[in-house]
Amino acid sequence: MPPDSVPREVAARSALDRLWSRGTAFLGCSVAIMGGAMSWVSERHLVAAISNAGGFGVIACGAMGPDLLAREIAGTQALTVRPFGVNLITMHPQLDDLIRVCLEAKVGHIVLAGGIPPGGAVRAVKDGGARLVAFAPALVLAKRLVRSGADALVIEGSEAGGHIGPVSLTVLAQEILPHLQEVPVFVAGGLGRGEAILAYLEMGASGAQLGTRFAAAVESIAHPNFKRAFLRANARDAVPSVQLDERFPVIPVRGLTNEGTRRFLRYQAETRDRFQAGALSKEEAQLEIEHFWAGALRRAVIDGDVENGSVMAGQSVGMVTAEQPTAAIMDELVSQAVAALLARRG
Ligand SMILES: Cc1cc2nc3c(=O)[nH]c(=O)nc-3n(C[C@H](O)[C@H](O)[C@H](O)COP(=O)(O)O)c2cc1C
Repeated sequence: MPPDSVPREVAARSALDRLWSRGTAFLGCSVAIMGGAMSWVSERHLVAAISNAGGFGVIACGAMGPDLLAREIAGTQALTVRPFGVNLITMHPQLDDLIRVCLEAKVGHIVLAGGIPPGGAVRAVKDGGARLVAFAPALVLAKRLVRSGADALVIEGSEAGGHIGPVSLTVLAQEILPHLQEVPVFVAGGLGRGEAILAYLEMGASGAQLGTRFAAAVESIAHPNFKRAFLRANARDAVPSVQLDERFPVIPVRGLTNEGTRRFLRYQAETRDRFQAGALSKEEAQLEIEHFWAGALRRAVIDGDVENGSVMAGQSVGMVTAEQPTAAIMDELVSQAVAALLARRG
């Protein structure tokens, strides 16, 4: 190693720290990488591991009720003294109670996902002294969210795992980053390497949110079968759910193709046929289609049934090649960004 290479590396790391300084200041951590909340996966162990590695872990509340969430927050606080957040789904019937639980436990950042957050929820988070993070699927909505009180935004491209919008991060970033300076913006969807994170920071992002890359980490409680499916899969295996008939909308969810996704197609066809034969009303048919995946993520993540369950995964799944400790994943992402900066400086 040439004698001046260490100071050059230190300088490159400082440059990276400057690029994401708004993100680290907002989150209160040293690496502006959020662990995207993943239902069933993002519980105390992974969340604490991400925060302990310098990033920002986020608990996925999913369908948990207030008591379970309170226990999960306390469990996470027992494993880390660093800041972490909680992700709540806006259509949860007990949203107000869940916000109260977060505030009582002094959670500093609440992420409201699954739609534009209702005004009452925004006020409750802000009045309670927490910072509000919201998802912006387009520039007009991003501006509206900022006006209504969002302290930071996540823009998540369709490359992501789980529930997705229609637009890729490449396009969303160009639409939003140059025109939104009011709050920090975190990019998500398809990110698996530090060079890509660096590129978005240079476009104006304050940090990134990654889910898929952390799902198979050593500290993730996901079933070994779930992790193995991630290690084996290529980018092309992580596809959005397919809608068979425009009369029966299907919520787009990106995951690995398996027997469940094939059965879902057959189930849609059968349900549509029963509707056409007059055996089901349109509403009943729609409900049956919506209920097909009930409990399916848990079946894959916890029970390990990766053939029939829902193996939500982003296209970055092709970059998950080993079950690594969370700290090693974080180090790798930072090193890749630093190496890219170093290479450029000649
Ligand atoms: C298995 C899985 C479950 C997820 N569950 C949630 C969730 O409950 N709430 C949420 O807001 N996002 C959820 N997501 C999205 C992640 O928080 C994150 O934004 C996404 O994974 C980023 O894209 P990437 O997968 O390409 O890294 C989930 C993603 C995965 C892979």
